[in-house]
Amino acid sequence: MKISILGEYITQFGELWDKSLRDLLYESATQAIASADLKPSAIEAIFVANMGAGILENQLHLGALVSSFFSHHPPAFRIEGACASGSLAVVAAQQFLLSGRYQTVLVVGAEKMTDVSSAVNTKFLASAGDFSREYGSTFPALYALLAQAHMQKYATTRDMLSAVSVKNHRHALANPKAQFHKAFSLADINQSEIIADPLRLLDCSPVTDGAAAIVLTSKRTKSPQILACAYACDSLALADRQSLTELQATKSAAGQCYHQSGVTAGDIEMAEVHDCFTISEILAIEDLGFFKKGRGGQASLSGQTTYGGKIVINPSGGLKACGHPVGATGVKQIAYISNLIRHKKINIGLTHNLGGSGATAVVHLLGGKL
Ligand code: COA
Repeated sequence: MKISILGEYITQFGELWDKSLRDLLYESATQAIASADLKPSAIEAIFVANMGAGILENQLHLGALVSSFFSHHPPAFRIEGACASGSLAVVAAQQFLLSGRYQTVLVVGAEKMTDVSSAVNTKFLASAGDFSREYGSTFPALYALLAQAHMQKYATTRDMLSAVSVKNHRHALANPKAQFHKAFSLADINQSEIIADPLRLLDCSPVTDGAAAIVLTSKRTKSPQILACAYACDSLALADRQSLTELQATKSAAGQCYHQSGVTAGDIEMAEVHDCFTISEILAIEDLGFFKKGRGGQASLSGQTTYGGKIVINPSGGLKACGHPVGATGVKQIAYISNLIRHKKINIGLTHNLGGSGATAVVHLLGGKL
């Protein structure tokens, strides 16, 4: 049995001070159902992805909140897996569909981050690490350690990191929903403010408000399908990892997906990968098998990850430039690739969503009806 994506919707991403978390959830839920050409009563269950509304918005019980939008009050679940919450919610929804319990469900991911100060957000995001063992480490600092290790081992350069950001900001120019619509040069990235050496301001994804939703069904349709899906975990703390230059959870999830589907890394035309920092895109394109280990930086610098290259990475602008409303990101990635397949821009796409510094990884392979 294959699961199809009947409809999808992504809200504007950015500093949305005129919209509440409830507004974002409502807009994405209702618009995704409209895009699926369904009546709200067709939704049998709801899966809500969110990381931090309990801390940032003093709002928990998000499943019931979204269910309240429907007069028939479908059963609802809230799923949290840090920045991988969105794709984990899609995984959970799929399991219910595959079990036969439901036939048509809604997955919504949302995060409202800009109502609090940078200091509050930095502390909140750090809760995705091992709080008792990485106490005081910010997320830019943890990824800076990964960047330093990669630079030392593979001679990855400052320009290679910057090339990821230049490319993703350029891709975002074509995405009206993106948070940033500004082109940057390598020099702009290289000279932006240091956040955690070697990562600079323009190496980092921003804090973002936004939501995305998809409608999934186990019924036979002509809509884009989930060809494979896999998830894996690794140690929460970086100190317990065997290597700082590869993310084992990504490798494991990707390997399972390729095995399940028979699709190879070389078949994939576009991928939305988890570029929360420029180094994480370089790690992802290596660990997903698009480029050999250690060659991701050079591939980025030489234009292999954009139009006219080997594969288009982060056509939406990625987390870097489209924005990263953490609980929404995994749903947004799937909605974005699904929409490209629906409009026949590509045949096969991949999404890759991480939680924390790679302790959770979720990979989805999407394709047109075969
Ligand atoms: N990329 C591009 N521009 C950014 C930016 C980013 N990541 N973050 C902020 N800006 C811009 C703002 O739009 C603002 O521009 P303006 O002056 O033209 O309005 C300016 O930089 C200052 O913004 P401010 O909010 O004061 O920045 P900050 O110093 O408080 O925050 C970071 C910058 C990098 C610390 C913050 O974006 C951050 O924490 N990013 C990482 C998020 C994260 O860890 N997510 C989870 C990953 S797993």
